Amino acid sequence: MRFDQRADSYDAHAAPQKRFAEALAAFAPLRRGARVTELGAGTGFLTAALLAQGVNVDATDSSPAMVAIGREAVPAANWSVHNAFGPIEKANAIASTGLLHWAADPAAVLKHWRAALPEGGRLLLGVPCDPCLNELRDLIGEGPVRWRDESQWLALLKGAKFDVHAHGVLESEEIYPSALDFLRSLHRSGVTGEPRLSAGELRSMIRDYDRLNARPEGVVATWAWLLVDATARG
Ligand SMILES: C[S@@+](CC[C@H](N)C(=O)[O-])C[C@H]1O[C@@H](n2cnc3c(N)ncnc32)[C@H](O)[C@@H]1O
Repeated sequence: MRFDQRADSYDAHAAPQKRFAEALAAFAPLRRGARVTELGAGTGFLTAALLAQGVNVDATDSSPAMVAIGREAVPAANWSVHNAFGPIEKANAIASTGLLHWAADPAAVLKHWRAALPEGGRLLLGVPCDPCLNELRDLIGEGPVRWRDESQWLALLKGAKFDVHAHGVLESEEIYPSALDFLRSLHRSGVTGEPRLSAGELRSMIRDYDRLNARPEGVVATWAWLLVDATARG
């Protein structure tokens, strides 16, 4: 991932992430006047949706560039730079979308998040899951993220002492003008890491993607997000 380097172009290339962030806030609304700590807030898609519900948001992200843009875009939140993958400060409630799948050990991270909450404290979680980006993964294999399905994520939450009250997978088909545009969009939103294919392999993969996933208006990519409303168990 290269979110800090791509912070300037993230918003323009993160339409699915924005849609899922807004869906999470609608799926599991917090009480007006509540205070929530947001982890991996990026440029503030979920932050803005939570504030619109009358919730007070302490928005955090490990990328100083993301926090600078978020602070400008959503000034009503209280922004700061924090790592969400180690111990975190005490919180009344936690909200996060598009972050946890980047952790090498999400089970350990969820335990830190559980430790920061009081018993009964809410966790609003949005995380990509199968079949997200399956067309691309069919061609290039897994990685850099380890993909999990809905039941694997729910098992991790249970193991970290969260009770899940509601959950659902939102799936959407995104159309891009071509495979090259789709890959550029991933790149400019910071979700790609070190190149894993040679130039020749990349060209051939792009040709295959265009051929296998053609639609009248371009090419399709499936996006899928697990939305979870949970509370910390005693
Ligand atoms: C895909 S973006 C999602 C941003 C935002 N939640 C959204 O839905 O648009 C992932 C974000 O997680 C942040 N991030 C990555 N690793 C992190 C960590 N260890 N602690 C906190 N934030 C992290 C990145 O800087 C980036 O802003």
